Amino acid sequence: MSNDQEPKLMDHHYDGIKEYDNPLPNWWLMTFFGTIIFSFVYFVHYTVGGGHTQPQELADEMLKLPKSLGKVWSESQLKVLFEEKNINVAGAAVYSQKCASCHKADGKGLIGPNLTDNIWIHGSGSRLEVVNLVSKGVLEKGMPAWEVLLSEEELIQVSGYVYFMRGLSQ
Ligand code: HEC
Repeated sequence: MSNDQEPKLMDHHYDGIKEYDNPLPNWWLMTFFGTIIFSFVYFVHYTVGGGHTQPQELADEMLKLPKSLGKVWSESQLKVLFEEKNINVAGAAVYSQKCASCHKADGKGLIGPNLTDNIWIHGSGSRLEVVNLVSKGVLEKGMPAWEVLLSEEELIQVSGYVYFMRGLSQ
């Protein structure tokens, strides 16, 4: 065995404890220098490079969502829309495609609650409450937020259709 493969002892010792002069493994050094280079790039990217932080990325994504998102309606505006939007035909079409799987074709409820009785879990079933509920959904209960899945027109049509269902079974 050649001499330079023998581990060398360092000069110092303490209470009889001695230290070998072992080089650090290459993978360790690469990782170490890698983190320094990464931190430099990271720092430059987010300070002078204009890199987007998470809140900024969220804001960017929100801007791409459909315009109806967060739209504020009024009861009187909806009263007009519900009368003119061809609710019985157009609303029924959206309903049977998107809602019937959970609320049943006749609205009497399956996974989602009965929409034809007078008992409402959320609010009293005013036009505004229906539109807001259908828009935002009840995500933790499995009712989707339809404002991102439907166009504004479909949202109004199906909300109107559901609004007029209320009380039909009593
Ligand atoms: C994947 C199943 C599912 C689909 C599809 C679905 N819903 Fe729901 N919906 C639910 C559930 C579950 C609830 C009950 C939420 C709760 O208990 O808070 C609910 C609640 C509601 C309510 C409130 C009822 C109340 O008593 O307050 C309305 C209104 C409603 N849905 C309308 C719709 C409309 C309109 C569509 C189609 C555009 C639709 N839902 C599609 C599952 C669904």
